[in-house]
Amino acid sequence: MGMKLLVLGGTRFVGRHTVEAALARGHDVTLFHRGKSGPELFPECEHVLGDRRIGLEALGAQEFDACLDTSGYRPSEVRRSAEFLESRVGRYAFVSTISVHAHPERSGADETAELAPWDPTQGEELNEASYGPLKAACERIVQASFGERALVLRPGLLVGPHDPTDRFSWWVARLASGGPVLAPGPAGARVQWLDARDLGRFTVQLLEDGARGVYTAAGPAEPTTLGELLGSLLNYGGGDGELIWADPGFLLDEGVKPFRDLPLWIPEDGPRGLFSVDPSRALAAGLNPRPLVHTLGDTHRWLGSRGPGQPWQAGISPSRERELLDRWQAQSAHSPFALPSGREL
Ligand SMILES: NC(=O)c1ccc[n+]([C@@H]2O[C@H](COP(=O)([O-])OP(=O)(O)OC[C@H]3O[C@@H](n4cnc5c(N)ncnc54)[C@H](OP(=O)(O)O)[C@@H]3O)[C@@H](O)[C@H]2O)c1
Repeated sequence: MGMKLLVLGGTRFVGRHTVEAALARGHDVTLFHRGKSGPELFPECEHVLGDRRIGLEALGAQEFDACLDTSGYRPSEVRRSAEFLESRVGRYAFVSTISVHAHPERSGADETAELAPWDPTQGEELNEASYGPLKAACERIVQASFGERALVLRPGLLVGPHDPTDRFSWWVARLASGGPVLAPGPAGARVQWLDARDLGRFTVQLLEDGARGVYTAAGPAEPTTLGELLGSLLNYGGGDGELIWADPGFLLDEGVKPFRDLPLWIPEDGPRGLFSVDPSRALAAGLNPRPLVHTLGDTHRWLGSRGPGQPWQAGISPSRERELLDRWQAQSAHSPFALPSGREL
């Protein structure tokens, strides 16, 4: 028999794919959200409208087998939902992030890694620096409130259709459009990603299995480098693109922002551990990252529905890229970073 599942969110990206996975498995899904994002989605589900930062009273006395929380970012809002739902849901699954790690520069982190501390006197303003510590504080609240009934998913970079961050999709679009492509060296840097649909399926499976505890969710199963990833994206389109690998020091000197201007780039002295976490517990429990080519094809098709002139949330403009390429090529004629394949690095 299907589960009665409450989703706090569910209409954007991660939640949306998880709801799709739950519906495909025959579960009965209720969505709680404000009615702002994707209100037309999932007409077959009950939608209860409300703002979790104010309260969940609109849910009334309903009870659920499980709650999936994809929209909790601040301790106060997670405390509110945990208190309200403690006696109304069987289990509480919280979508966290590997950004909770206290030492994101270290590679190989698993579920036992130390979590970043959060100081309540710092407030709950959400920004790049506070995101991880706030999510860690949210995790602690879920664990304290639900104990054995708590499930925590810690995904790394999530990609695929409907990703609002554009971090992966920008590269897909950029490499499909051909020409010389500015790539952040070294090509041998490790990279991890997971199709959000695989996280969705895995989350639903864990809920069905009655799993508890923490799962670090990242892929692919085999270690992969940025050079291999961008090379695959390039080959997929079959176009005339060419990767030009630039020295990271040059890019930093030029003010190029890692991860934002050139997504998927984390410099050597940055939080490189975010691309080398250890997902073995999740893989052993059934996480099954799909082949890159499937994510690529679906992302490509989804990009076709992008509105004309819709601004990118990540990446650099063609003119800025051209300017950087010109400068890099002028100063690097003999640098090993200029090798097109980057495999030699
Ligand atoms: N993207 C990544 O690479 C990545 C990596 C690691 C972890 N994560 C985690 O994945 C999750 C991202 O999820 P998503 O945004 O894609 O999930 P989603 O559940 O698909 O979308 C967010 C949902 O939250 C609802 N919502 C937002 N504010 C709300 C409020 N105040 N009250 C009630 N509902 C509210 C939105 O609807 P309304 O706007 O209609 O309210 C929407 O349904 C986050 O927890 C993030 O930390 C993401």
